[in-house]
Amino acid sequence: MGFVLAAAGSAIGLGNLWKFPYITLENHGGAFVLVYLAAIAVVGAPIMAAEILLGRKSRRNAVGAFALLGAGKPGGVVWTAIGYLGVTTGFIVLSYYSVVAGWTLRYIVLAFSGALGGLAHHPGALESFFGGFLADPWAQILCHTLFMGATVGVVFLGVGKGIERAAKLLMPLLFMILVVLAGYVATTPGFGRAVGFLFRPTFADLTAGGVLEALGHSFFTLSLGMGAMLTYGSYMRRRDSIPRAVLTICFLDTFIAIMACVIMFSIIFSFDFEVSKSSTILFTTIPVIFYKLPGGAMISGLFYLLVAFAALSSTISILEVVSSYAIDELGWGRRRAALTTGAAIWVFGFLSALSVGGVDALSKINPIGRASTAGVFGTLDYLASNWFLPVGGLFIALFAGWILTAAESRDELEEGNGPLAGSFGAWRFLIRFAAPAAVGAIIVSVILGAEYQ
Ligand code: PHE
Repeated sequence: MGFVLAAAGSAIGLGNLWKFPYITLENHGGAFVLVYLAAIAVVGAPIMAAEILLGRKSRRNAVGAFALLGAGKPGGVVWTAIGYLGVTTGFIVLSYYSVVAGWTLRYIVLAFSGALGGLAHHPGALESFFGGFLADPWAQILCHTLFMGATVGVVFLGVGKGIERAAKLLMPLLFMILVVLAGYVATTPGFGRAVGFLFRPTFADLTAGGVLEALGHSFFTLSLGMGAMLTYGSYMRRRDSIPRAVLTICFLDTFIAIMACVIMFSIIFSFDFEVSKSSTILFTTIPVIFYKLPGGAMISGLFYLLVAFAALSSTISILEVVSSYAIDELGWGRRRAALTTGAAIWVFGFLSALSVGGVDALSKINPIGRASTAGVFGTLDYLASNWFLPVGGLFIALFAGWILTAAESRDELEEGNGPLAGSFGAWRFLIRFAAPAAVGAIIVSVILGAEYQ
C-alpha cells in the first residue's frame, strides 16, 4: 500500500492534469489518444515492471543498480551510462516541472483570496491575468523557489512517513473532486463533442512527431525512463507484488489523465473558448466551471491545492533520483545530498522560470521539426520527454530483457506474488521484443522524418 501510493503519487502529477490535455489538444485528440493508450499497455507497463524489479533486486539508485547488476555481463559499464542519463534527465525535468508546479501556488492564493472569482466571470480576464503572471520574472522565480523549497524539504526529511501519509489522504480527495467535476461537465453541451474528440480517431491527423510525443508522454506520465520507479522500487518490500502494483499505477494514472481531458475539453467546447495558448488551459479554463458551481472559491482553492500536492508527490520522486545517486555513489549524507542537488536544480530552473513569459533563447536548437511552445522551458521539456526518456526506457528494456537472465527476472517478479503462470512469458515477450521494437521504430521514423498520412 505504501509503495503503490508513493509510486502512484510519482506517476500522477502535472503530466496528467497539465500536460496531457494540452498535447492532446495540439495533436487533435482521437488517434493521438489511441497511440498513447497503446504505448502505456505495450511499452509503459512492461518497462515499469522492469524498472521496479531492477531497483528492488539491486537495492540501489539508478547508477548503482546498473553498475551492480551489469557487472561481468556483456556491455559491462556501458549500462551504467543509462543510469547517468537518468540522473541527468531528472535534473532537467525537475528544473522546469517546478516552475509549472509553482503556478499552482499562485492560484491557491488567488482562489482563497476571492480574486479568482472576479477573473473567472469575465471571459478573457483570466487569460490576460495569466499572461501577465507568466511575464513577471519575480513572480515566476518566487513560485519556483517555494516549490523547490518544499520538494527539498520532503527529500531532506526522507520520503517515508510524511509523504505516504499525506498521499493516503490527498490522492483520494483529488480523485473525488475530479469525479464531481466530470459529473458536472457531463451536463454541459460540449460534453459529447469532448468525448468524440478524445475517442474518435482520425488517422489523417497523426504525424510522426505526434507519435513520438504520445510515446514520450507515456514515459513522462508513468515516471519512466529516468530511474524514478527504479529508485522507489529499491525501497519496496519483497513480499509485495510487482505486477499488481504496476497494473494499479497504470490504471489510476490513465484514468486521471482521461478525466482531466474530458473535463477541460467539455468546458472549451461548451463555452466556445478561444484557446490561444494551449499549454495554459489548466490555469485558464478550469476556473470557469468552478464558479458555475456553488462554493466556487472553496472548490477552486481546494482543487489547486490538490494539484500542487499531486505535483509535489512527483517532484520528490524526481529529486530522489538525483539525491539517492549522490547518497549512494558519492557517499553524501541525505541532508547534504538533498540540499546540494536541490540548490543546483533550483538555479538551473531560473532559465525556465524566466523563459515562460516569451523569451525565446533556446528554441532555435530544437533538433527535429516540432516547434517548441515556450523557449528554454519548451525545449527542455521537448528534449527530456520526447528523447531522453524514451531512449532511457529503450535501454532499460534491453537490459531487463536481454542482459538479465530469465531466471533472474522471474525470481524477482515472482517474489511476493507466487508463480506468475502465463504472465511472466507475456512480460518477457513484451520487454524483449515488443517494447524495444516499438520505441526503436518510432525513434528511427522521426529521425528519418516520416509523416503518417
Ligand atoms: N509522472 C509525473 C507526472 O506525470 C512526472 C514525472 C516524470 C515524475 C518522470 C517522475 C519522473 O507529472
